[in-house]
Amino acid sequence: MYSVWILLMVCAGCDTSENSNIALIPKPTEQIAHQGLFKVDKNTRLVFDETSSSLKSIVQEYLNSITAFELAIDSQAKDNTFCFKVSDMPQNEYRLIVSEKSIELTGGSNQALLNGFQSIRQLLLINDGKTVPAMEVVDSPRFQWRGLLLDCSRHFMEKDFVKRYIDLLALYKMNVLHWHLTEDQGWRIEIDKYPKLTEIGAWRDDGKGGKYGGFYSKDDIREIVEYASNREVTIVPEIELPGHSQAALAAYPQFSCTGGPFEVETDWGVFKEIYCAGNDSTFMFLEDVLEEVIELFPSEYIHIGGDEVPKYRWEHCVKCQRRMQVAGLHDAHELQSYFISRIGDFLASKGKKMIGWDEILEGGLPDGATVQSWRGFEGAKDAVRLGNRAIVSPTSHAYFDYGLNDIDLAKVYGFNPIPEGVSEEERRLIIGGEANMWSERAPQPEIDSKVFPRLIAMSEVLWSGEEKKNFGEFRARLSNHYRMLDKLGVHYGFETVPVQIETNTESGVLEVSLTSYDSSIIIYYFDGVESHVYHESQEIMEPVNWAITFEKESGLFKDTIYQRFEPHLANGLKPNIATKYSANYAAGGIGGITDGLKGSNQFRDGKWQGYWGDDVVATLDLGEIKSVSQLSSGFLQYNNAWIFFPTEVTYEISTDGIKYISLGTILNKDSPRNKEQKTQEYSLTIDEKTEGRFVRIIARNLGVCPDWHDAAGSKAWLFIDEFSVK
Ligand code: ACM
Ligand code: ZN
Repeated sequence: MYSVWILLMVCAGCDTSENSNIALIPKPTEQIAHQGLFKVDKNTRLVFDETSSSLKSIVQEYLNSITAFELAIDSQAKDNTFCFKVSDMPQNEYRLIVSEKSIELTGGSNQALLNGFQSIRQLLLINDGKTVPAMEVVDSPRFQWRGLLLDCSRHFMEKDFVKRYIDLLALYKMNVLHWHLTEDQGWRIEIDKYPKLTEIGAWRDDGKGGKYGGFYSKDDIREIVEYASNREVTIVPEIELPGHSQAALAAYPQFSCTGGPFEVETDWGVFKEIYCAGNDSTFMFLEDVLEEVIELFPSEYIHIGGDEVPKYRWEHCVKCQRRMQVAGLHDAHELQSYFISRIGDFLASKGKKMIGWDEILEGGLPDGATVQSWRGFEGAKDAVRLGNRAIVSPTSHAYFDYGLNDIDLAKVYGFNPIPEGVSEEERRLIIGGEANMWSERAPQPEIDSKVFPRLIAMSEVLWSGEEKKNFGEFRARLSNHYRMLDKLGVHYGFETVPVQIETNTESGVLEVSLTSYDSSIIIYYFDGVESHVYHESQEIMEPVNWAITFEKESGLFKDTIYQRFEPHLANGLKPNIATKYSANYAAGGIGGITDGLKGSNQFRDGKWQGYWGDDVVATLDLGEIKSVSQLSSGFLQYNNAWIFFPTEVTYEISTDGIKYISLGTILNKDSPRNKEQKTQEYSLTIDEKTEGRFVRIIARNLGVCPDWHDAAGSKAWLFIDEFSVK
């Protein structure tokens, strides 16, 4: 085999510019454009060597559907052929030479060939379905694990939808579908030995007197696994344990600590009903289940969850306490480690490797376990330091259920799965990353708009690696892909928040501006009285609610953004915050609570500042002695997400910043048990003329989630937005 590489070096008259129509994503390791096109016609023949002959039907299926020809097979390369050959080269590498006469695709394995073929498939779809620009490519992946998690438990997704996603993954050279099959809200995989798992566990009350749900029969699963295997996508099933298991316990309550009864959960969150760790029959049940799972999935890895396990039941269960005594375990974290290790040993005895979310590090990481790091990068760092493998999918970059406020295309593109501070040797244990598509708030019809185009950025992160990345140039290539996604019927969403709302308070007046990343979007706002087309920034003199809408030719974008603006004395001041807010809920940083932008009733809207276990103690320096008539702060409660109203809020004032006097305390009147996601103003109106230069708020956090709560004993969140002074 001659080296394409040498050819690349000596080629004269090649066009290496990016504007040639080779908009491949992920970006190949090396690519060079030549003059001319290869045109597929009805006489084009496909040629496979012996090793690649098993790819015949999948290649024909794809090509026939794109080109509308029935392309026949030939035995040898000649003019107007598309040749596939496995050669002695690195297993994951493929090389592609497209000339006006032929396409030659060589790879180190059939998997590499299929990845190379996806490059051709993209170019055909981006172009007219029949032409491929002449070029040469040498390409191999940066990471071996390039995954997408589909949560088919919170919302059931149909068999054909899952297959369609396998195709879309393959198109972007992604190779793992992490299939989340069991949850509190639904068990989705048929298990012969325990039929009630799907008879009962697959269905939850739909709130309208009926049932919502569904499951995959064993035949469905075999069909999907084969479909994926034909496309070189590995399906890794996730069977959640010991937590997120309420649907299973609704079917078989004897495997819980209390014996039940339970319902399949209808709410979202983290729930305290988990498998009993003191009961040997629980382990027998789980081993039986896993045995049937292993029979269905050829994957080397099985995911066992392990995340978000409230320890409350174990701490109050006689059997679990006895287990801890007998096994010499010191606390519930060690009991979790015992649980996971026991399952890990079983999987190992069946020749399978175990993956768990990063909580499996707590209480001791079982030997050989692979950690999927989701609460930041720390889990990955800790795992590789212990010599274990890690998959990286942090909430900061890889959670596609999050809104574009938190994670937009640029944020995903900026993801580097290698955490800072890991050694060269540890780096090799980071096997790759995943995008996680949790579906609490995304039933099947919403999935496309959440996954695309962000998955396309993820594919480049995981395939091309840091050195190849350039966001501007990526976006230029991406612009060609929308055509292809249209052809494939993908209902992609925005690249970023379609309308950015910004406030400026430098002039002392609250000035609002709206901008869009896409200049063709027309922005409207309704101010409660009339609707306006937005042209320029607006000064806001009185509190007002805007309903912001936007329009683009495609008519796709029909969401409305509701925003309240609140002008007040402290707009733009940087408070001195004595306690610590979370980096995940920073509301843009220090000034996030004085920017005049009110948080909505969605805790993840980017405007709420979150304090985990801590009070809010924040002081504002008004710059000079001023007369103060009202102090007010907004708080949010959503007890499912462990967020509670403050128990009390005290406002204080000072002339010198040293000696403060209390202006009053407002007690919480709403029950922490109230399950609504709601906001509440804690306002203090001051009757007498009160003057001061410094004002302070002290908002008391509930501290920990109460005993009745599913996360009893865990730190509670306190969410504040806008500390306003009038
Ligand atoms: C997770 O998001 N609970 C893994
Ligand atoms: Zn128990």
